[in-house]
Amino acid sequence: RSLKPFNTFAVEARASRYAEAHDDQDVREAMAAAARLGLPLRVLGGGSNLLLTADVDALVLRLVSRGVRVLSDDGERVVIEAEAGEPWHPFVLHSLELGLAGLENLSLIPGTVGAAPIQNVGAYGVEISDVFAGLSALDRETGELREFDLQACAFGYRDSLFKQQAGRFIILRVRFALHRTARLQLDYGPLRQRLQQAGVDVPTPRDVSRAVCAIRSEKLPDPQVLGNAGSFFKNPLVPQALADELGARFPGLATYPQPDGRVKLAAGWLIDQAGWKGFREGDAGVHKLQALVLVNHGQASGRQILALARRIQADIAARFGVELEIEPNVIEG
Ligand code: EPU
Repeated sequence: RSLKPFNTFAVEARASRYAEAHDDQDVREAMAAAARLGLPLRVLGGGSNLLLTADVDALVLRLVSRGVRVLSDDGERVVIEAEAGEPWHPFVLHSLELGLAGLENLSLIPGTVGAAPIQNVGAYGVEISDVFAGLSALDRETGELREFDLQACAFGYRDSLFKQQAGRFIILRVRFALHRTARLQLDYGPLRQRLQQAGVDVPTPRDVSRAVCAIRSEKLPDPQVLGNAGSFFKNPLVPQALADELGARFPGLATYPQPDGRVKLAAGWLIDQAGWKGFREGDAGVHKLQALVLVNHGQASGRQILALARRIQADIAARFGVELEIEPNVIEG
């Protein structure tokens, strides 16, 4: 079965077996089937944070479970739960239609609800962990259904327990604590500017969502049009001393001081500065508007995209002394 329709990079790779799960029972059956076949089980969400570099000798299970429900509502704080297979952006829009605030900055992110906690998706100053109320997951080691609260998920920057222990847990549904009164996060400068330009003085969560959608559509390629998996590298955390040294050499360096004393650098800036923006080798390329995004112009293989990523990593290490870490899951077969 070709996995091309199920990864937003749109690279060709075949799965030896493929199944879809609509509910918990389907997931359990797929686990049993994989065991019977002597195949590993690999779970796919929206396939939007994934690079397939070879055929996958596994039972690939795509979670397509649907459903959104309000679990509690005290008039201000509302806990809403969604099944793992729910597409992320429509879920965000649905929460806004219910008059709930909290997810607006996370508008237009590709992928599914169940995949979002794995890398603690974040954008424009908000991460999943900021609005997280819990999740239910199957522990494949024990077969038990387990509940995870915020602390148990060990969320970090593009990181969580589910990323650290990749493959162990299958996230079935996720809960979010949203609010009727908005507490808008507008620290991201371009977001404030965009709202000002739109003539919005007192923004609502929907205004913020619209502004985020506009910014994303301008900078980030639509995976339906141009294959990609969003940011291909994490923004690196470096010691203050290195940031100072680089700042002296490169006056435009984008830096974000962190609470722990380290400094986050904009990987996109480094890659851009190194001249990679718009670079293309065959069908593997660097997006022309956002250097942090690698793209598939059509027929690139996962290996070609990975090879380009390795070249960029080596170049950035040589120029700046900074190691870039790959952000999406690279599946090597
Ligand atoms: N920059 C450049 N050239 C580029 C790209 C960026 O100079 O080609 C500079 C920008 O001018 C800016 C800085 O780098 O000063 C940061 O760029 P931007 O605000 O576009 O954000 P980013 O750091 O590249 C991160 C996330 C995105 C998220 C945005 C907005 C990571 C790995 N990426 O990107 O997340 O949408 O911030 O919050 O943290 C994703 O994870 O897939 C993703 C798209």
